[in-house]
Amino acid sequence: MRAIRALLSALALAVGFGCLPGRTVFAQSPTLTVADRTTSRTYTRPELLADSRLRTIVIAHDPVYRRPMTYRAIAIAELLKGARIGDDDYVQARAVDNFSIGIPAGLLRTMPKPGAAPSTAEAFLAIEDPALPWPAIPGVAKGTAGPFYVVWQGGARSDISSEYWAYHLAALTVTDSPYRRWPGLAVSADVPATDPIRRGLDRFVAVCMACHRFNGEGEGGQGPDLARPMNPVDYFQPTALKKLLRDPRSVRTWPEAKMPAFDAENLSDADIDAIVAWLSYKARQGR
Ligand code: HEC
Repeated sequence: MRAIRALLSALALAVGFGCLPGRTVFAQSPTLTVADRTTSRTYTRPELLADSRLRTIVIAHDPVYRRPMTYRAIAIAELLKGARIGDDDYVQARAVDNFSIGIPAGLLRTMPKPGAAPSTAEAFLAIEDPALPWPAIPGVAKGTAGPFYVVWQGGARSDISSEYWAYHLAALTVTDSPYRRWPGLAVSADVPATDPIRRGLDRFVAVCMACHRFNGEGEGGQGPDLARPMNPVDYFQPTALKKLLRDPRSVRTWPEAKMPAFDAENLSDADIDAIVAWLSYKARQGR
C-alpha cells in the first residue's frame, strides 16, 4: 500500500512539474506576470508558446550564452501593450533568484518592424520550450536561462546594460524610476554634471543594483548590501576593488562564487573608476 502511494505521488510530481529526468525542475509550473500599477496579467508557459505573436529570432551575440542563439520569442512591446506607462517610468524585471533590475520603460516599448534591420534596440521575451530545452548557461549560473529570458536585438550594446539580459525571469512590473524609488542613492546638486560620480551612480543603477542593495535601498538580493554594514571602499585597496569589479575571480575564487566578470564592452575602465568614485562619495557622506 505504501509502495503504491509512493508510486502515485511520484507520478503526480512528474505530471505536476512537467519534468523529465535531466530537465530543470520548477517547484511549480513557471509563470510570467506582466503588471502596471493597477492591473496584472499572469501567463503560463504553454500560453506564451501558443501565442500568435510568437516568432523565431536570432541573436547574433548573446552575452549570457556567449554565442549566437535562436529563440522563440514575443516582443516585449507587445506584452506591454495596454499597460499604463508614464514617460519616466521603468519596468522592474524580477527573476526567481533575487535578481531584479529596473529597465527604462522607453527601451522596452520599441515595437519591432519585422523584416527591417533594427536601428534601435528591441527587447524580446524568449520562451524556452520544454520539448526543445536551451543549453546550460556557461560559467557562474546553473541550468538554462529559461524558462523566460529578456533578449535584445539591434542597437548599440552600450545602451543595453549586461543586466538588462534578465534570465530566470518571473515578472515585468511598471514602476517609478530607481532614482525616485531609492533617493538615498542620489548625488547632491552641488556635484557638477560632468563629475564621474554621476556616471558612477548611473552605472551602479544599470548594472550593480540587479544583485546588490545599497544601505537597504534596491531590490537585488543575490549579493551583499554594499553600504551596510561597510562600504567596500573602506576595506578594499582601490586597485583590488577595481580588479574585483572587472573579474571577481581575479581577486578570490571559490566554487559557489556568483558575481559575473564584466568585459570592457559592458563596463569600461572609466565606468569602473566612476562606480568606485560614487561608492567613495557615498562612504564620505556616511561618515
Ligand atoms: C548578477 C549578480 C551581480 C551583479 C550584476 C554584481 N554583483 Fe557584486 N556580487 C554578487 C555576489 C553574488 C557577490 C558575493 C560573492 C559571489 O558570490 O560572487 C558579490 C560581491 C561583490 C563585492 C565583494 C563584497 C565583499 O565584501 O567581498 C563587491 C565589492 C561587489 N560585488 C560589487 C559590485 C558592483 C560595484 C557591481 C556593479 C558593477 C556588482 N557587484 C555587480 C553579485 C553581483
